[in-house]
Amino acid sequence: MNAIDKGLTLWFTGLSGSGKSTLATYLAPKLKELGKRVEILDGDEVRENLSKGLGFSKEDRDTNIRRIGFVANMLARNGVVAITAAISPYKDVRNEARSKAQAAFVEVYVECPIDVLEDRDTKGLYKKAKAGIIKNFTGISDPYEAPENPEVTVDTSKETIEQSADKILAYLRKRGLVPDAAPARR
Ligand code: ADX
Repeated sequence: MNAIDKGLTLWFTGLSGSGKSTLATYLAPKLKELGKRVEILDGDEVRENLSKGLGFSKEDRDTNIRRIGFVANMLARNGVVAITAAISPYKDVRNEARSKAQAAFVEVYVECPIDVLEDRDTKGLYKKAKAGIIKNFTGISDPYEAPENPEVTVDTSKETIEQSADKILAYLRKRGLVPDAAPARR
């Protein structure tokens, strides 16, 4: 199959505020320029729609992640690059999504030290979590299991968004999942 036609799941995992959504949004038009069809399944957006009503217990998070994995797989097996941008804190459920994937599955660990996230605190949630106003907050009062063997790791405290995106694109090119260059206009 031609690199242009190959679907895949690009599974971002990382703490809240680490840059998953920003990176997904930055990457999508770049992939489209290479001729790919792209959909983003963003954690916050999914929770407003597909997973409306779910909370942040392990059970609810697992349900959320299973739903995201299910939809991502449907897209990926039909030639779409499905980018998921949810914390997805539990290793076993991420691996479950990987094991069910019918197209390539690329896990990207979006790393960022917790003290940097607490400083950034774009949504003001870390402050609330530390004050105990928000309970079970990932990284503060709830677990985050970092991936052991992610295909790609980016560190948004050290890299620019361009550098992180380039790392991911370089990996996808190396795997033959995206073309080297934009297709000639038809
Ligand atoms: S996941 O754990 O199920 O993967 P998801 O990515 O959908 O989480 O949602 C995370 C977003 O929900 C965070 O970026 C934050 O805006 C919000 N949020 C609200 N409460 C929590 C919490 N207790 N833990 C983590 N994120 C929370």
